[in-house]
Amino acid sequence: MENHEMIKNRADKEREEGMGNFAKKRLIHGGDYNPEQWLDSPEILEQDILLFKKAKVNEVSLGIFSWSMLEPEEGKFDFGWLEDIINRLQDNDIDVILSTPSGARPKWLSDKYPEVLRVEADRRRNLFGGRHNHCYTSPVYREKVGIINRKLAERFGSRPGVLGWHISNELGGDCHCDLCQSAFRGWLKQRYGTIEELNRAWATTFWSHRYQSFEQIESPSPIGERDLHGLKLDWRRFVTDRTVDFVRAEVQAIRDGGSVLPITTNMMYFYGGLNYHKFAEVLDTASWDNYPLWHKGPEPETAAEVGVYYDIIRGICRKPFLLMESCPSSTNWQSVSKLKKPGMLLAASLQAVAHGSDSVQYFQMRQSRGANEKFHGAVIDHYGGEDTRVFREVSQVGEALEQLSELAGSQVKARVAVIYDWENRWAMEDAQGPRNKGLYYQETVTKLHRSFRRLGLNVDLPDMEQELDQYSVVAVPMGYMFRRGLGEKLKNYVEQGGHLILTYWSGIVDDTDLCYLGGTPHGLMEVCGLRSTEIDGLYDWESNSGIAVSGNSLGMSGEYQCRHLCDLVELKGAEAVLTYGSDFYAGKPALTEHRYGDGIAYYVCADFEEAFYADLCRRVALSAGIELLWQDLPEGVEVSTRENAHGEYLFIQNFNPSVVAWNEIQNQWQQIYGEVSEELPGFGTKVYRRR
Ligand code: GLA
Ligand code: ZN
Repeated sequence: MENHEMIKNRADKEREEGMGNFAKKRLIHGGDYNPEQWLDSPEILEQDILLFKKAKVNEVSLGIFSWSMLEPEEGKFDFGWLEDIINRLQDNDIDVILSTPSGARPKWLSDKYPEVLRVEADRRRNLFGGRHNHCYTSPVYREKVGIINRKLAERFGSRPGVLGWHISNELGGDCHCDLCQSAFRGWLKQRYGTIEELNRAWATTFWSHRYQSFEQIESPSPIGERDLHGLKLDWRRFVTDRTVDFVRAEVQAIRDGGSVLPITTNMMYFYGGLNYHKFAEVLDTASWDNYPLWHKGPEPETAAEVGVYYDIIRGICRKPFLLMESCPSSTNWQSVSKLKKPGMLLAASLQAVAHGSDSVQYFQMRQSRGANEKFHGAVIDHYGGEDTRVFREVSQVGEALEQLSELAGSQVKARVAVIYDWENRWAMEDAQGPRNKGLYYQETVTKLHRSFRRLGLNVDLPDMEQELDQYSVVAVPMGYMFRRGLGEKLKNYVEQGGHLILTYWSGIVDDTDLCYLGGTPHGLMEVCGLRSTEIDGLYDWESNSGIAVSGNSLGMSGEYQCRHLCDLVELKGAEAVLTYGSDFYAGKPALTEHRYGDGIAYYVCADFEEAFYADLCRRVALSAGIELLWQDLPEGVEVSTRENAHGEYLFIQNFNPSVVAWNEIQNQWQQIYGEVSEELPGFGTKVYRRR
């Protein structure tokens, strides 16, 4: 298995050589297409290709959920229809991303081998139905998936026009069957060696939950063990490892079939169940399915939230990713199926490209006629023609991607990192700590991310395992669990000149959720020049404030509101920049600064409003020597850059529905996309290039 260093080296090498990218010659425009639903209407399939050409669609993703049409009976394969459609697409210069069919299994498979069906946490085995309803451990399931994957790879895996592999579809969930239980025990044995060590790591003496052997351990359950944090955390890690291992087995079958094409799997919108960073071990490229609630609230807010996720996904394989799915109009599974207003599709699609996507892909290319997703938005709807608003807007996206074609494979480089870590998130959610009704981790990450983005800066969101040396500023919001010696890494980072923003509720527990002894933030008390002594949880209706200390070194002024959590620290060398405005801790530090080695550590004591982070991030970025081209971007305007051998590309996007005044930028930038004018139209995008 590759360790982190090896993955990093591989990623660096591939990045340099542009290997493992799906988009070789152009940005990809296409999406999920299920021609197998239309085999009895050949005229529709022909019409589809004509329409794809008109909309400048240059790719379709085939084979997603097609197992029962590819292997209608066990061992009887019918790839003819797929061959036909691939040939016709190829004749029309439309590429294919080929999916493995494991996202849903045929009826014959679960009838003959019931072990493939998933067992839920309450220990009930599911019946046939739905999708993702299978056990990732089952040897039979792996074997059957392996057979069909290998055959698909042998037949299609070296074709020109096949860009790469889409493994399964939106992997997720867990299985509690006997096979998974015993795999979990094996996993724990490997991790802990002895049962004594496991008992220590999970603190099982508490409530007399000690185990005498690994054989006694069972996965967490609503009718059983649900309070042992170490067990729950390790179960989630195991589920991630199991899923990664399942993907690894799928990939192996493809390689056995002789295909060397790049591999991806599509990750889910805001999904918390898997640590996606771990998928770097088995993927060439990460891809993401993006389904935001556009128009529910102000569009700039939605854009900012989506931006966080794009930047997380880009960081997984640390190179361009794919926007594997997005909806051309309205979904049919959200509580309200809202249409995208004119221009929204284009702006949302180009946002993906601005953040490092090499594709804009949709679910779905043609709306299915029946069953669960018949009313989900599609490029071609039941009407079937090109004279629809959605089709016209999809065509505009196609034109834009054609104009921006040279960006395929270009990189996003960032000097700022905000650490986002799934395992930390899991541990914190479970912790029974200072505020069980909501800690606002995600929101805090977003506030920091957005504050740096509003300065026109690209931002990376690595997990706790990634290297940090390349960043001038690293922010660690709510780093509750200091995994894998994060404290030590951050200490070195600051010592060598880095600028660190660390917040309250950081460095509290180790990898197995055992509290650090001897004071917190663990390993960084000296670096931050303070010790956290107590933390106050605030009711929803309570607030406090941070008031600037006059003459403070950061030059902050005024007062900022804070809520939810207030950390009380004792200074041991740090200087207070803000102090609390009220309660029994009025006058105590609320933001501090401390020089350590060649760098500076800032400690944010409370959950402050965004205006605070906006000020703090600007001052810290400047103090870290980052040149800021924009200190005051208009609300709702986003700036991003990508670069490659041709030069640097600058995206300016207006997520407001209305026009924003915009001075054209310096002449070394040449505009290559968008209206040339002294304004940014509502939902408008301009792209510039600098050689
Ligand atoms: C997911 C799935 C697709 C489809 C869409 C609908 O992203 O991967 O198969 O169900 O949702 O929005
Ligand atoms: Zn199982």
